[in-house]
Amino acid sequence: MRLLIKRDNLFNHLSEPVLKTGHLNQLKAFKQHGRCTCYDHSVAVAKTALFLSMILPFRFKQKQLVRGALLHDYFLYDWHNVKLEKLHGFHHPHIACENAKRDFDLTPVEENIIRRHMFPLTPIPPRYKEAVLVTISDKICATREVFSALGRKISNGRPAAYLAHMFAFLIAFLPWR
Ligand SMILES: [Fe+2]
Ligand SMILES: [Fe+2]
Repeated sequence: MRLLIKRDNLFNHLSEPVLKTGHLNQLKAFKQHGRCTCYDHSVAVAKTALFLSMILPFRFKQKQLVRGALLHDYFLYDWHNVKLEKLHGFHHPHIACENAKRDFDLTPVEENIIRRHMFPLTPIPPRYKEAVLVTISDKICATREVFSALGRKISNGRPAAYLAHMFAFLIAFLPWR
């Protein structure tokens, strides 16, 4: 519990400059998984990665970890509604990185976090341990968000919706996402 409070205080301190600039607030308008918005997902990924960095026996660049995690899905469109020339799952790290470079001064670690967070769907692995942490945290949060949406459907007694979300979960982790 104390560790979570410490994590939240550190997160608030490290995230404030990023949240105040750029267009991160736009992510509140876009759904990511289930009811979760891209903004909430990005915050959850950043907090999860920061928590892991506090309990693992390695030294992490925590400021860059949080900044990269907050910007990892900075693609600024609703991927459910927009028709893209290339598949969202493969291409959005590139779009997010270009947007982030336009709005922020990125370090190589931050850029690598954004570009490589979809590994192993995208074939090049993360280069830095901060990017590995965000890649893992992204999977943890996406799984939690999809299953919490499933749980709501089950508790509402809507099996058809449950099956639809199971299908959504499957495609969320497959190459045509
Ligand atoms: Fe992503
Ligand atoms: Fe993500």
